[in-house]
Amino acid sequence: MKVLVVGNMGYVGPVLTRHLRQVYPKASLIGFDAGLFAHCLIGSTPVPEICLDRQVFGDVRHMDKNLFEGVDAVVNLAAISNDPMGNRYEHATLAINYKAAVELAAMAKRAGVRSYVFASSCSVYGCAEEEAKQESSKLDPLTAYARSKVMAEKELIPMADDRFTVTCLRFATACGMSDRLRLDLVLNDFVTGALTQKKIVVMSDGTPWRPLINVKDMARAIEWAITRRADQGGNGLVVNVGSNEWNYQVKDLADAVAQAIPGVEVSINKNAPPDKRSYRVSYDLFKQLAPKFQPLTDLKSTILELKEGLERARFSDLAYRESQFMRLNVISKFCETGMLTENLEWSCSMSTAGSVR
Ligand SMILES: NC(=O)c1ccc[n+]([C@@H]2O[C@H](COP(=O)([O-])OP(=O)(O)OC[C@H]3O[C@@H](n4cnc5c(N)ncnc54)[C@H](O)[C@@H]3O)[C@@H](O)[C@H]2O)c1
Repeated sequence: MKVLVVGNMGYVGPVLTRHLRQVYPKASLIGFDAGLFAHCLIGSTPVPEICLDRQVFGDVRHMDKNLFEGVDAVVNLAAISNDPMGNRYEHATLAINYKAAVELAAMAKRAGVRSYVFASSCSVYGCAEEEAKQESSKLDPLTAYARSKVMAEKELIPMADDRFTVTCLRFATACGMSDRLRLDLVLNDFVTGALTQKKIVVMSDGTPWRPLINVKDMARAIEWAITRRADQGGNGLVVNVGSNEWNYQVKDLADAVAQAIPGVEVSINKNAPPDKRSYRVSYDLFKQLAPKFQPLTDLKSTILELKEGLERARFSDLAYRESQFMRLNVISKFCETGMLTENLEWSCSMSTAGSVR
């Protein structure tokens, strides 16, 4: 088996590639990434890419068709991956998350790849507090990020046929440890605040619903999607990935962290304007289609996993919300210094990036 993971050098990628290496020791694993966050490693472990057969640097908007030779499955994680970045860099977000995702699938299909897995998001449901949203429910994408995922799904699904399986995994918000940890994810932020400041600062009034999934369980869901047969959901499938038990309100997450890490104050912003991004999601379809790939991790062990990971890395940055573990900070800095264009392309071309002048 040969798997091409596009966008492998972010938060999810290292956990996924390590998992694939473990379950398929003999597989050929290729990574492809622009390297926007390549340097954002936590701790002093070796770069996670050592478990790959090959790492290619490049932009998903300009891929070489030779890369698909002999590839059985493409997993597309490459994205401008949250709302603040999507709002600030809307044009690039649509170009990368939507246009390039569709073009990538078309190239893969032409090359005879049989499975394409797209990392979508439950944020496509927008505001959905009354009842848990199913895949067939009305979508309400409130941000450029969410819109880009909806637009991509809409064009990807009709590309599926008997020889080309397309799986759009609508993931809950990720949490848990990774070599390229993100602290702009709600639970990761709370645990970091609890450890460094002994304080959890909830930006909203705490009432929004936010389903979560541990990043390790995301990797297992991707493993399922790569190998699933068409009788498990059809050639083209959109499925919510998470578990019904992990539909939490933000204030419950803060309380759970405060319980697991004693001596922590929880500060809730009672005057915050209502956060419209609040959704409860049904994961029944995923349970039915992939019973052996259901999330295994629970909330408490995820909190402890984060705590131990941060302690191991001796992380103590009080101003962590200003740090390189927030995706927006990293790309804004690259843009300010002219390293990245406003379109989020490297100013130096990839082929000359390493040359000495
Ligand atoms: N983390 C979550 O909570 C979550 C939830 C739902 C869905 N997802 C989706 O899962 C995927 C992975 O998320 P993540 O948390 O690892 O994000 P991330 O931002 O950590 O990683 C994204 C990766 O994509 C790469 N990338 C961005 N633009 C590129 C380009 N033009 N060419 C090549 N590579 C490019 C970046 O360099 C980075 O390594 C994304 O598609 C995201 O939308 C994530």
